[in-house]
Amino acid sequence: MKEQIIELLKKNLPDMEVAEIERVLEEPPKPELGDYAFPCFFLAKTLRKAPPMIAAELREKMDVDVQAIEDIDRVETAGAYLNFFMNKARFAERTLTVASDPNYGASDIGKGKTVCIDYSSPNVAKNFHVGHLRTTIIGNSLYLLYSKLGYHVERINHLGDWGTQFGKLIVAYKNWGSEQEVKDKGIEELMRLYRKFHQEAEQAPELEDEARAWFHKMETGDEEALFIWRWFVDISLEEFKRTYALLGMEFDHYTGESFYRDKTDEVTSILREHQLLSSSEGAEIVDLSEYDMPPCLIVKKDGSSIYATRDLAAVLYRKKEYNFDRCLYVTGQEQRLHFRQVFKVIELLGNEWAKDSLVHIPYGLVSLDGEKLSTRDGNVIYAEDILLQAISKIRETIKEKNPNLADPEDVAKKVGVGAVIFNDLYNQRIKDVSFKWEHLLNFDGETGPYVQYTYARCSSVLRKVEGYDETAPVDASAITDGASIELLKEIFRFPAVVQDAADRYEPSVVARYAVDVAQAFNKFYTENRIQVDDANVKNARCKVTEVTRGVLKSALALLGIDCVEEM
Ligand code: ARG
Repeated sequence: MKEQIIELLKKNLPDMEVAEIERVLEEPPKPELGDYAFPCFFLAKTLRKAPPMIAAELREKMDVDVQAIEDIDRVETAGAYLNFFMNKARFAERTLTVASDPNYGASDIGKGKTVCIDYSSPNVAKNFHVGHLRTTIIGNSLYLLYSKLGYHVERINHLGDWGTQFGKLIVAYKNWGSEQEVKDKGIEELMRLYRKFHQEAEQAPELEDEARAWFHKMETGDEEALFIWRWFVDISLEEFKRTYALLGMEFDHYTGESFYRDKTDEVTSILREHQLLSSSEGAEIVDLSEYDMPPCLIVKKDGSSIYATRDLAAVLYRKKEYNFDRCLYVTGQEQRLHFRQVFKVIELLGNEWAKDSLVHIPYGLVSLDGEKLSTRDGNVIYAEDILLQAISKIRETIKEKNPNLADPEDVAKKVGVGAVIFNDLYNQRIKDVSFKWEHLLNFDGETGPYVQYTYARCSSVLRKVEGYDETAPVDASAITDGASIELLKEIFRFPAVVQDAADRYEPSVVARYAVDVAQAFNKFYTENRIQVDDANVKNARCKVTEVTRGVLKSALALLGIDCVEEM
């Protein structure tokens, strides 16, 4: 309808640019003022007439055309405004038809294109903390969004599994560790050993040399060093995978930093060939002063590679292996500079594509202000514990409020985990997330449980209604009341919402949308009885409920959240 209105205005105002008409066209705040409004004030100067008069004349001129356009019901004037009213029945019918498609919201715009997403990427021998929970949840939603748009996506977990810290860990293990303790306590014990190393190294700085020597052994393929390192990686991965299992998330590749250890020499030589390397205090760097950035360190004084070197190797490897159109990196904003440097170095190697295809996607912190989260030890918060606590709190609520629920464990898991995910994705990713049990588990408000509850309500309506014929053609003229139309307008937006969220790498667009749909449905449901005698009206309202249910499920699925039929 919008395009048709623009065309109509253009026809009657030939001096105006289409883009300008589009900018002026408004969506009025109240339904009495139509679905689109065109204010005529700004025409007064050129046309030398009072704005209400201009509006009235335009309306006259357009009327015949308007009557011929099926999507527009009528055009009226209110003062200086032209108010366009849509043909509600026709809009309702069209929306119900498109939204009944099981793939509603999907598109093939990304067909034949590949997107690599580098996310989650926790550090071995360190706990999977709340920050990593954010990259995991955001990265997974981007994967779902891009897949929905037809892109081929490679989900890459760039584990922090290489670097000098492993030299320290090996020294600590050999001096103060035991196999049994590591086996029993896993990452917790590895973190204790790491802390112990730093305490001891304050008194005995030679420990640092020993640690460097062990990392050097790792880099040169020493069997013992690699054996211990591999063991630490396996232990850590096992714990990380427990968290992924709780979240229901998977990766295509666990190619961490260590994967690139035999690929960094090549990076150094390519950089040398391009005469980009210079030495600085015994280290080799790429000078980036011309681009207002500190130098990018490539090879350390002792000859070892660093985080950035491995990231450079990873870009080149992924380009060759997956021929990506875009490679996204989801990390905290403190890594902004690191990625700017890496992307610039890749570009300086003559890769023009680096400018548009490499994208850093930063996000804000998690603030736990005043929130009591039980911690394992030393105030370290594990993502796994947060998820388990959410599940157990929902389990308690179910026991209290709905003790006869079938499969309460499944519901507790889906609602508990869903609540944590939703809380993470509801605000723009760059904003800090505040973590408050009271808020995020609330069934009322802008939360995951609220949207899931609305979904379950749709399911329950459809389960309970008598005599709904799903296959009967819908008489859309039976549902032209305000609440129904507002709900259908929300439903109609879904494909545009998916596209917008993907374009801006912003899952919050979908999360907010899900709340809008849920609120519009609840209003529709308060104002419209479903079980009515008139079969046409009943069928049409059931159809509205059915497509709402479908859109809520699809929207939550794009966030990585499962629905339950009853809760
Ligand atoms: N392991 C890093 C961290 O925990 C994140 C890695 C992000 N990916 C990358 N290619 N650098 O901060």
